[in-house]
Amino acid sequence: MRIVAVVNNKGGVGKTTITANLGAGLAARGLKVLMIDLDPQASLTKSFFTVDESQLFLSKLQTVGAWFRAPDKGRAQVLADLVFSPPRCNALIGKQGGWLELVPSDPLIINSESLIPGAVDNSGHIKPSKFVALHRRLAEDLSDPAFSKYDVVLVDCAPAFSLTTKMATVAADMLLMPARPDFLSTEAIQVMGQRLLELTKAFNQHREAAPAEAPPMRMPRVAVLFTMVQWYNGSPIDVQAQFINEVKALGVPVFDTLIRDRSNAYAASGRHGVPTIMAGGVAPEVRANLHDCVDELLKMFERL
Ligand SMILES: Nc1ncnc2c1ncn2[C@@H]1O[C@H](COP(=O)(O)OP(=O)(O)OP(=O)(O)O)[C@@H](O)[C@H]1O
Ligand SMILES: [Mg+2]
Repeated sequence: MRIVAVVNNKGGVGKTTITANLGAGLAARGLKVLMIDLDPQASLTKSFFTVDESQLFLSKLQTVGAWFRAPDKGRAQVLADLVFSPPRCNALIGKQGGWLELVPSDPLIINSESLIPGAVDNSGHIKPSKFVALHRRLAEDLSDPAFSKYDVVLVDCAPAFSLTTKMATVAADMLLMPARPDFLSTEAIQVMGQRLLELTKAFNQHREAAPAEAPPMRMPRVAVLFTMVQWYNGSPIDVQAQFINEVKALGVPVFDTLIRDRSNAYAASGRHGVPTIMAGGVAPEVRANLHDCVDELLKMFERL
């Protein structure tokens, strides 16, 4: 199983769009994919329902909030019981493909640490004695046999380096970092690098202070995926090419695939309950662009 956390502190860079499309693209190649929505905005969850369906049963679904509230005993099974199969997507994937499942989110997980039994002290700070176990919560549970049927787990994170994002980071084999090729996004990539170093250090210090069976944390592999790239005469416009090259010069691994800026294809994504890669009426080059990204991710898996 490969666990990919889709992260970037910066908002609106395409994390949810990429998670949904890679999930559907990987499932269409025959893989068994689980997506976990760890963003209180629940955008990924909403992307798999039409507007009517959302009103009908989205509000009735059990969400990942139940997993945060769960006691340690039997916790992995609580997570497994939340899994939902988006019917529209799986019907399109068909019998020759794999399948795509989802753990839904809801706005109440915004303060996840306060939901977890015994995680914080009276002033709302994470108890040092709980630090390692809390950060390994997702890693632990995804290693439960209940999840061994999945080939890939994609975790869509909120635009913040919150406890939920840190849990996903600790669990991940790889961090996929969607970013726009602009100044602020380039800066955000560097900030994320710093945050990763700090988390790794803090985790390992807490682990040494209170020896636990947990393995030490290693810096996860990172790959930046540029999104919303504007194309002119067969290549990105100059100003964007400059920022892409700046990130490469930092030594950060970057996907060769550049996700093109196509508002007309992506603006309505989610409305029909299926991601762009399998939605009707989408230009073939938009689908091909997303399939290139799926291909490249599969190659990266081979090298992990
Ligand atoms: N390649 C693209 N071209 C044009 N628009 C895009 C593209 N990718 C995503 N978008 C649009 O950009 C907006 C933000 O995308 P998305 O929600 O995936 O970002 P995000 O990083 O998950 O945001 P947040 O940080 O709020 O979770 C959405 O309206 C989406 O439809
Ligand atoms: Mg999002």
